[in-house]
Amino acid sequence: MADRKPLISGNWKMHHNHFEAIQTVQKLSYELTKEDIEEVDVSVHPPFTDLRSVQTVLDADKIPILLGAQHCHFEDKGAFTGEVAPNMLAKLNVDLVIAGHSERRQVFGETDEEVNAKVKAILAAEMTPILCCGETLEEREAGTAGERVTAQVTAGLKGVKAEQVAAMVIAYEPIWAIGTGKTATPEDAQEMCATVRGVVADLYTKATAESVRIQYGGSVKPGNAPDLMAQPDIDGALVGGASLDAVDFARIVQYRNAV
Ligand code: PGA
Repeated sequence: MADRKPLISGNWKMHHNHFEAIQTVQKLSYELTKEDIEEVDVSVHPPFTDLRSVQTVLDADKIPILLGAQHCHFEDKGAFTGEVAPNMLAKLNVDLVIAGHSERRQVFGETDEEVNAKVKAILAAEMTPILCCGETLEEREAGTAGERVTAQVTAGLKGVKAEQVAAMVIAYEPIWAIGTGKTATPEDAQEMCATVRGVVADLYTKATAESVRIQYGGSVKPGNAPDLMAQPDIDGALVGGASLDAVDFARIVQYRNAV
Protein backbone atom coordinates (compact mmCIF):
# COMPACT_ATOMS: atom_id res chain seq x y z
CA MET A 1 0.00 0.00 0.00
CA ALA A 2 1.16 3.51 -0.75
CA ASP A 3 2.64 5.49 2.08
CA ARG A 4 -0.06 8.08 2.64
CA LYS A 5 0.52 10.29 5.66
CA PRO A 6 -2.78 10.69 7.51
CA LEU A 7 -4.37 14.15 7.43
CA ILE A 8 -6.73 15.16 10.21
CA SER A 9 -8.51 18.44 9.56
CA GLY A 10 -10.64 20.55 11.87
CA ASN A 11 -13.46 22.34 10.07
CA TRP A 12 -14.63 24.98 12.50
CA LYS A 13 -17.51 26.10 10.28
CA MET A 14 -19.04 29.37 11.63
CA HIS A 15 -17.60 28.99 15.12
CA HIS A 16 -14.82 30.75 17.08
CA ASN A 17 -14.04 34.46 16.68
CA HIS A 18 -10.38 35.35 16.22
CA PHE A 19 -9.66 35.49 19.97
CA GLU A 20 -11.18 32.03 20.47
CA ALA A 21 -9.35 30.78 17.39
CA ILE A 22 -5.98 31.89 18.77
CA GLN A 23 -6.68 30.24 22.13
CA THR A 24 -7.78 27.01 20.47
CA VAL A 25 -4.69 26.80 18.26
CA GLN A 26 -2.36 27.54 21.17
CA LYS A 27 -4.05 24.90 23.31
CA LEU A 28 -3.93 22.42 20.44
CA SER A 29 -0.21 22.99 19.96
CA TYR A 30 0.27 22.35 23.68
CA GLU A 31 -1.67 19.07 23.48
CA LEU A 32 0.11 17.72 20.41
CA THR A 33 3.55 16.17 20.63
CA LYS A 34 6.37 16.33 18.11
CA GLU A 35 5.72 12.68 17.40
CA ASP A 36 2.02 13.32 16.67
CA ILE A 37 2.99 15.82 14.00
CA GLU A 38 5.60 13.47 12.54
CA GLU A 39 2.93 10.78 12.18
CA VAL A 40 -0.09 12.87 11.20
CA ASP A 41 -0.63 16.08 9.24
CA VAL A 42 -3.01 18.35 11.14
CA SER A 43 -4.92 21.29 9.71
CA VAL A 44 -7.36 23.80 11.15
CA HIS A 45 -9.95 25.58 9.00
CA PRO A 46 -11.19 28.66 10.87
CA PRO A 47 -13.62 31.27 9.50
CA PHE A 48 -12.09 33.85 7.13
CA THR A 49 -11.97 36.57 9.81
CA ASP A 50 -9.64 34.43 11.95
CA LEU A 51 -7.14 33.41 9.28
CA ARG A 52 -4.69 36.28 9.66
CA SER A 53 -4.62 35.96 13.46
CA VAL A 54 -4.12 32.19 13.34
CA GLN A 55 -1.43 32.52 10.68
CA THR A 56 0.46 35.01 12.85
CA VAL A 57 0.37 32.66 15.85
CA LEU A 58 1.43 29.62 13.81
CA ASP A 59 4.34 31.59 12.32
CA ALA A 60 5.47 33.34 15.50
CA ASP A 61 5.40 30.20 17.64
CA LYS A 62 6.57 27.91 14.80
CA ILE A 63 3.58 25.64 15.35
CA PRO A 64 3.60 22.83 12.75
CA ILE A 65 -0.16 22.87 12.16
CA LEU A 66 -1.35 23.55 8.62
CA LEU A 67 -3.64 26.49 7.99
CA GLY A 68 -6.80 25.74 6.03
CA ALA A 69 -9.82 27.60 4.71
CA GLN A 70 -13.39 26.37 4.41
CA HIS A 71 -14.30 27.81 1.06
CA CYS A 72 -13.27 30.32 -1.65
CA HIS A 73 -14.45 31.75 -4.94
CA PHE A 74 -13.01 30.43 -8.20
CA GLU A 75 -12.20 33.81 -9.74
CA ASP A 76 -9.00 35.73 -9.01
CA LYS A 77 -10.77 39.03 -8.37
CA GLY A 78 -13.84 40.93 -9.40
CA ALA A 79 -17.29 42.15 -8.48
CA PHE A 80 -18.24 39.27 -6.17
CA THR A 81 -19.46 40.93 -2.98
CA GLY A 82 -18.64 38.87 0.07
CA GLU A 83 -16.37 36.40 -1.68
CA VAL A 84 -12.68 35.62 -1.13
CA ALA A 85 -10.23 34.72 -3.93
CA PRO A 86 -7.84 31.75 -3.76
CA ASN A 87 -4.75 33.97 -4.14
CA MET A 88 -5.84 35.96 -1.07
CA LEU A 89 -5.79 32.74 0.93
CA ALA A 90 -2.45 31.68 -0.54
CA LYS A 91 -0.96 35.02 0.62
CA LEU A 92 -1.93 34.05 4.18
CA ASN A 93 0.02 30.78 3.86
CA VAL A 94 -3.19 28.77 3.63
CA ASP A 95 -2.27 25.21 2.57
CA LEU A 96 -5.60 23.47 2.22
CA VAL A 97 -9.01 24.69 1.10
CA ILE A 98 -12.24 22.70 1.45
CA ALA A 99 -14.24 22.63 -1.80
CA GLY A 100 -17.84 21.52 -2.07
CA HIS A 101 -18.62 20.79 1.57
CA SER A 102 -22.20 19.47 1.73
CA GLU A 103 -23.30 22.56 3.67
CA ARG A 104 -22.03 24.74 0.81
CA ARG A 105 -23.82 22.52 -1.68
CA GLN A 106 -27.09 22.21 0.28
CA VAL A 107 -27.41 25.58 2.01
CA PHE A 108 -25.69 27.81 -0.56
CA GLY A 109 -26.57 25.89 -3.71
CA GLU A 110 -23.03 25.16 -4.95
CA THR A 111 -23.15 23.00 -8.05
CA ASP A 112 -20.73 20.29 -9.18
CA GLU A 113 -19.52 22.70 -11.90
CA GLU A 114 -18.73 25.42 -9.38
CA VAL A 115 -16.99 22.93 -7.11
CA ASN A 116 -14.88 21.79 -10.06
CA ALA A 117 -13.98 25.42 -10.89
CA LYS A 118 -12.96 25.92 -7.25
CA VAL A 119 -10.79 22.79 -7.21
CA LYS A 120 -8.94 24.08 -10.27
CA ALA A 121 -8.62 27.61 -8.86
CA ILE A 122 -7.26 26.31 -5.55
CA LEU A 123 -4.67 24.23 -7.43
CA ALA A 124 -3.77 27.20 -9.64
CA ALA A 125 -3.04 29.18 -6.47
CA GLU A 126 -0.72 26.35 -5.35
CA MET A 127 -2.87 25.16 -2.48
CA THR A 128 -4.39 21.73 -1.91
CA PRO A 129 -8.12 21.20 -2.33
CA ILE A 130 -10.10 18.95 -0.01
CA LEU A 131 -12.87 17.92 -2.39
CA CYS A 132 -15.96 16.81 -0.46
CA CYS A 133 -18.51 14.25 -1.54
CA GLY A 134 -21.23 12.31 0.22
CA GLU A 135 -24.76 11.01 -0.10
CA THR A 136 -28.02 11.98 1.58
CA LEU A 137 -29.96 9.58 3.81
CA GLU A 138 -32.51 9.03 1.01
CA GLU A 139 -29.74 8.11 -1.42
CA ARG A 140 -28.22 5.72 1.12
CA GLU A 141 -31.58 4.04 1.74
CA ALA A 142 -32.28 3.86 -1.99
CA GLY A 143 -28.93 2.14 -2.54
CA THR A 144 -27.58 4.94 -4.74
CA ALA A 145 -24.83 6.25 -2.42
CA GLY A 146 -22.08 4.83 -4.64
CA GLU A 147 -23.57 6.42 -7.75
CA ARG A 148 -23.92 9.82 -6.06
CA VAL A 149 -20.36 9.87 -4.79
CA THR A 150 -19.02 8.63 -8.13
CA ALA A 151 -20.83 11.47 -9.91
CA GLN A 152 -19.56 14.10 -7.45
CA VAL A 153 -15.95 12.95 -7.62
CA THR A 154 -16.01 12.62 -11.41
CA ALA A 155 -17.48 16.11 -11.83
CA GLY A 156 -15.23 17.64 -9.16
CA LEU A 157 -12.05 16.36 -10.85
CA LYS A 158 -13.00 17.22 -14.44
CA GLY A 159 -9.97 18.66 -16.22
CA VAL A 160 -7.64 18.15 -13.24
CA LYS A 161 -4.29 16.54 -14.11
CA ALA A 162 -3.27 13.17 -12.67
CA GLU A 163 -0.25 14.57 -10.82
CA GLN A 164 -2.47 17.18 -9.20
CA VAL A 165 -5.03 14.58 -8.15
CA ALA A 166 -2.26 12.43 -6.69
CA ALA A 167 -1.42 15.23 -4.22
CA MET A 168 -5.05 16.09 -3.45
CA VAL A 169 -7.41 15.19 -0.65
CA ILE A 170 -10.94 13.87 -1.10
CA ALA A 171 -13.29 13.83 1.89
CA TYR A 172 -16.12 11.32 1.96
CA GLU A 173 -18.77 12.76 4.26
CA PRO A 174 -22.19 11.11 4.33
CA ILE A 175 -24.61 14.01 4.86
CA TRP A 176 -26.70 12.05 7.36
CA ALA A 177 -23.66 11.70 9.62
CA ILE A 178 -22.63 15.37 9.69
CA GLY A 179 -23.38 17.04 13.00
CA THR A 180 -25.93 14.35 13.86
CA GLY A 181 -23.88 12.16 16.18
CA LYS A 182 -24.47 9.29 13.75
CA THR A 183 -21.28 7.90 12.27
CA ALA A 184 -20.99 5.51 9.37
CA THR A 185 -19.77 2.16 10.64
CA PRO A 186 -16.06 1.71 9.96
CA GLU A 187 -17.00 -0.96 7.40
CA ASP A 188 -19.47 1.30 5.54
CA ALA A 189 -17.03 4.22 5.65
CA GLN A 190 -14.28 1.94 4.32
CA GLU A 191 -16.52 0.68 1.52
CA MET A 192 -17.36 4.21 0.39
CA CYS A 193 -13.76 5.43 0.65
CA ALA A 194 -12.72 2.42 -1.42
CA THR A 195 -15.40 3.41 -3.94
CA VAL A 196 -13.90 6.91 -4.12
CA ARG A 197 -10.42 5.44 -4.64
CA GLY A 198 -11.83 3.20 -7.35
CA VAL A 199 -13.32 6.21 -9.14
CA VAL A 200 -9.91 7.91 -9.13
CA ALA A 201 -8.30 4.70 -10.46
CA ASP A 202 -10.88 4.55 -13.28
CA LEU A 203 -10.47 8.23 -14.17
CA TYR A 204 -6.67 8.22 -13.88
CA THR A 205 -4.36 5.37 -12.92
CA LYS A 206 -4.00 2.96 -10.05
CA ALA A 207 -0.88 4.87 -8.94
CA THR A 208 -2.86 8.13 -8.79
CA ALA A 209 -5.54 6.41 -6.74
CA GLU A 210 -2.95 4.94 -4.38
CA SER A 211 -1.50 8.39 -3.77
CA VAL A 212 -4.65 10.51 -3.22
CA ARG A 213 -5.56 10.92 0.45
CA ILE A 214 -9.15 10.13 1.39
CA GLN A 215 -10.69 11.44 4.60
CA TYR A 216 -13.84 10.27 6.32
CA GLY A 217 -16.04 12.95 7.86
CA GLY A 218 -19.28 12.88 9.84
CA SER A 219 -19.40 12.88 13.66
CA VAL A 220 -15.78 11.79 14.10
CA LYS A 221 -14.99 11.80 17.84
CA PRO A 222 -12.06 10.62 20.00
CA GLY A 223 -14.00 7.39 20.68
CA ASN A 224 -14.64 6.35 17.07
CA ALA A 225 -11.50 7.74 15.41
CA PRO A 226 -9.28 4.66 16.06
CA ASP A 227 -11.67 2.21 14.31
CA LEU A 228 -12.25 4.57 11.39
CA MET A 229 -8.54 5.31 10.98
CA ALA A 230 -7.74 1.57 11.02
CA GLN A 231 -9.54 1.11 7.68
CA PRO A 232 -7.18 0.66 4.73
CA ASP A 233 -8.78 3.33 2.50
CA ILE A 234 -9.33 5.94 5.22
CA ASP A 235 -6.32 8.25 5.34
CA GLY A 236 -7.66 10.87 7.68
CA ALA A 237 -10.67 12.67 9.05
CA LEU A 238 -12.53 15.90 8.40
CA VAL A 239 -13.81 16.81 11.84
CA GLY A 240 -16.47 19.42 12.56
CA GLY A 241 -17.97 19.62 16.06
CA ALA A 242 -15.21 17.74 17.88
CA SER A 243 -12.50 19.98 16.40
CA LEU A 244 -13.79 23.06 18.21
CA ASP A 245 -12.36 21.77 21.46
CA ALA A 246 -8.56 21.54 21.39
CA VAL A 247 -8.41 18.57 23.77
CA ASP A 248 -11.00 16.51 21.87
CA PHE A 249 -9.36 17.33 18.56
CA ALA A 250 -5.93 16.40 19.91
CA ARG A 251 -7.32 13.05 21.13
CA ILE A 252 -8.58 12.38 17.59
CA VAL A 253 -5.14 13.20 16.17
CA GLN A 254 -3.72 10.81 18.78
CA TYR A 255 -5.97 7.92 17.62
CA ARG A 256 -2.88 5.70 17.49
CA ASN A 257 -2.56 5.85 21.28
CA ALA A 258 -5.96 4.22 21.88
CA VAL A 259 -5.71 0.74 23.33
P1 PGA B 1 -19.12 16.88 12.22
O1 PGA B 1 -18.85 17.70 10.86
O2 PGA B 1 -17.82 16.26 12.64
O3 PGA B 1 -19.62 17.91 13.19
O4 PGA B 1 -20.15 15.83 11.90
C1 PGA B 1 -18.04 17.17 9.85
C2 PGA B 1 -17.96 18.14 8.69
O5 PGA B 1 -18.97 18.75 8.36
O6 PGA B 1 -16.88 18.31 8.08
